[in-house]
Amino acid sequence: MSEQKKALFVFGTRPEAIKMAPVIKQLQRQDSPLTPLVAVTAQHRQMLDQVLNLFKIEPDYDLDIMEADQTLTTIINKSLTGLAEVIMREKPDILLAQGDTSTAFAAGLSAYYHRVPLAHVEAGLRTYDKWRPFPEEMNRQQLTALADIHFPPTASALDNLLKENVPRERIYLTGNTVIDALLDVVGRKYDLARAGIELRPGRKLVLVTVHRRESFGAPLLRICRALKRLADKFAGEIDLIIPVHRNPQVRSVVYEQLGESENVTLVEPLDYEPFVHLMKAAYLILSDSGGVQEEAPSLGKPALVLREKTERPEAITAGAVKLVGMDEELIFNEASRLLTDSAEYRRMSQVVNPYGDGQASLRIGQALAHYLGLTAERPEEFDAAIAH
Ligand code: UD1
Ligand code: UDP
Repeated sequence: MSEQKKALFVFGTRPEAIKMAPVIKQLQRQDSPLTPLVAVTAQHRQMLDQVLNLFKIEPDYDLDIMEADQTLTTIINKSLTGLAEVIMREKPDILLAQGDTSTAFAAGLSAYYHRVPLAHVEAGLRTYDKWRPFPEEMNRQQLTALADIHFPPTASALDNLLKENVPRERIYLTGNTVIDALLDVVGRKYDLARAGIELRPGRKLVLVTVHRRESFGAPLLRICRALKRLADKFAGEIDLIIPVHRNPQVRSVVYEQLGESENVTLVEPLDYEPFVHLMKAAYLILSDSGGVQEEAPSLGKPALVLREKTERPEAITAGAVKLVGMDEELIFNEASRLLTDSAEYRRMSQVVNPYGDGQASLRIGQALAHYLGLTAERPEEFDAAIAH
């Protein structure tokens, strides 16, 4: 076996932590030729710590950058400054960034400035609309330009990279690590009462999350109005549960618009374990989240996506997810339809797994070893047709 090499994981938000955790665990295995080091920016504080606790990850570095109602500029400034020190001290052989957050972009730029090879987990997702989602579309396009190896989750993400002239040998199709995390957690027994959640018998659960920057202001207001109308129309039949994101731009509107409804429960962001079990218990999911769009179809739960464009077309093509935008009427009508039209509900509630098979982290571990010359073998790639 060759000498151990150092892989520096950099992340800062809840979804990056959920999607990096299985890869870190993979590299912590004794037979791994790479040693993982973890630097968190803590762009999120509480929501990041929830995930670190669940997966028992103790960061080697914590930049603790979060400020209340922070701006994109402060996230980038503080991350670049803090990461420079970490990279100079550790001199990693490779740096891993995940997805499309501002932390991920700063991590990629830091790797480049310090001439450290960059691996991009969840590469190739695109809307090709620079404002939707904002700023994620530009973050991930920049990360592709900066990265040395790319881990697209799906064949269409891989195609996007090829169209952008990324060399095929630098790409490893892996599946999405979120499915590794989901399968780990959904398999554990969990009683929702532990999270203070009591489901009322005979009521259908509608689970909602919203947080995108491009929805702030009027679009978020329209989403809330649609939810309020839905709660009123189906009073006695449905309960809405909304774990409210900690962003003050979200909180103020959601609490003001929906705080008083009898069948709407607003709760703090949930730990990943209860959240997964709540998705499992849900009848219908409405969300603008990237991760939730990937998880809902794996659990066979119809999802309405509260966005105008998505970089995750696979579940839409499969018929398990619908894009409903941020239009009050459309959201209200489509959700009402799924609550009343059982044939349509059945059509959408199929279990499809276009995003992964639970082996993405294993493939990423193997691909890193291959790229760094520690093994001659290229890993077998993810094939959604076999996964299902
Ligand atoms: C960020 C990412 C977004 C990702 C989302 C996942 C960027 C620009 N945005 O958006 O891509 O989809 O995370 O949730 O990278 N806050 C807390 N505690 C927390 C987390 C957030 O109080 O644990 C509050 C703070 O006031 C913070 C604000 O939320 O300033 C916004 O956080 P930020 O990370 O800037 O934006 P998100 O909307 O969370
Ligand atoms: N999630 C969670 N608790 C919640 C809401 C969501 O653990 O209260 C999980 C969810 O299952 C998914 C991830 O957080 O894996 C998605 O994070 P978010 O929606 O914040 O970000 P995005 O995926 O849109 O970047």
